[in-house]
Amino acid sequence: MKQQLQPLLSLPLLLILLSHCTGISAQGAPAASPDAGPIADAPAPPGPTNVTKILEKSGNFNLLIRLLKTTQVDTQLYSQLNDSYSKLTILAPTDAAFSKLKSGSLNSLSESQKDQLLQFHLIPDFLTISNFQTLSNPVRTQAGDQFEYPLNITTSGNSVNITTGLVNTSISGTVYTDNQLAVYQVDSVLQPYGIFAPKPLPPAPAPAPEKAKHKKKASDDSPVAAVKSAAGSVVCDLSRNGLVSIGVAVVFAAAMFLLQ
Ligand SMILES: *[C@@H]1O[C@H](CO)[C@@H](O)[C@H](O)[C@H]1NC(C)=O
Ligand SMILES: *[C@@H]1O[C@H](CO)[C@@H](O)[C@H](O)[C@H]1NC(C)=O
Ligand SMILES: *[C@@H]1O[C@H](CO)[C@@H](O)[C@H](O)[C@H]1NC(C)=O
Ligand SMILES: *[C@@H]1O[C@H](CO)[C@@H](O)[C@H](O)[C@H]1NC(C)=O
Ligand SMILES: *[C@@H]1O[C@H](CO)[C@@H](O)[C@H](O)[C@H]1NC(C)=O
Repeated sequence: MKQQLQPLLSLPLLLILLSHCTGISAQGAPAASPDAGPIADAPAPPGPTNVTKILEKSGNFNLLIRLLKTTQVDTQLYSQLNDSYSKLTILAPTDAAFSKLKSGSLNSLSESQKDQLLQFHLIPDFLTISNFQTLSNPVRTQAGDQFEYPLNITTSGNSVNITTGLVNTSISGTVYTDNQLAVYQVDSVLQPYGIFAPKPLPPAPAPAPEKAKHKKKASDDSPVAAVKSAAGSVVCDLSRNGLVSIGVAVVFAAAMFLLQ
């Protein structure tokens, strides 16, 4: 009975979800600067800044470079910096910083954890040393949410202290700076909770226990109830219209089912 229901459900629901959940805002395109005359377009584009090249020049960041390459975050940065409106500050751990990590801890990470670890060292803004005192904590990085990836920065004078809760360090040098990109040296890898000491997640809504009693009960339910409960598990954030459409789909699917 359930198996018959599935394909009936899937199509209308899928169509509705697609129409409500994947719409891309048409407002994403950057507005042209009102002052930009023809002259603004004249200078030949110098091409995006190559972070790998900058780090290579310093000679102190071989392990970071290797990680940037294996995760392909190097190409992400290249295209990120190709947009001249996009600003970036990199907190770059030295080779010595990586060698302070517990041995094997980097190798034990999954690809997506390695990626997140790198994103955690990227602040999507251009910060001079004195700009750091204007930040409020926790500082937004390019890694996931701040619950799993908290980064706090405090300053006094020209010293900039950084804490993740697991690691305390400070900025120990400026590697590179222009008006778009700043690269600062840090002597520890910034280890976020989300990877190195995961906090327990907030409890998820418990799925109905798979007991024989429940299974029996489910098969006694009316088809409409079964459809409703399947629709109830949809995770997407739907507008009011979406809910109406789901309702329509539920009725439609139920009607199809009853016609069989
Ligand atoms: C950036 O520089 C590195 C090192 O010089 C080079 O290997 C790499 O191909 C460059 N990346 C791009 C996208 O040009
Ligand atoms: C940079 O962006 C321009 C315009 O969006 C695009 O044409 C070009 O291919 C990009 N270059 C690189 C190296 O990504
Ligand atoms: C920064 O860290 C150093 C050494 O850990 C400490 O002495 C100093 O008080 C800290 N400064 C700020 C502003 O947190
Ligand atoms: C970071 O700053 C926030 C806000 O001030 C604070 O609640 C949190 O405890 C701080 N975390 C660490 C590890 O310092
Ligand atoms: C980081 O610094 C804070 C405050 O100075 C201290 O309480 C904490 O124990 C330090 N954590 C580590 C891992 O050193």
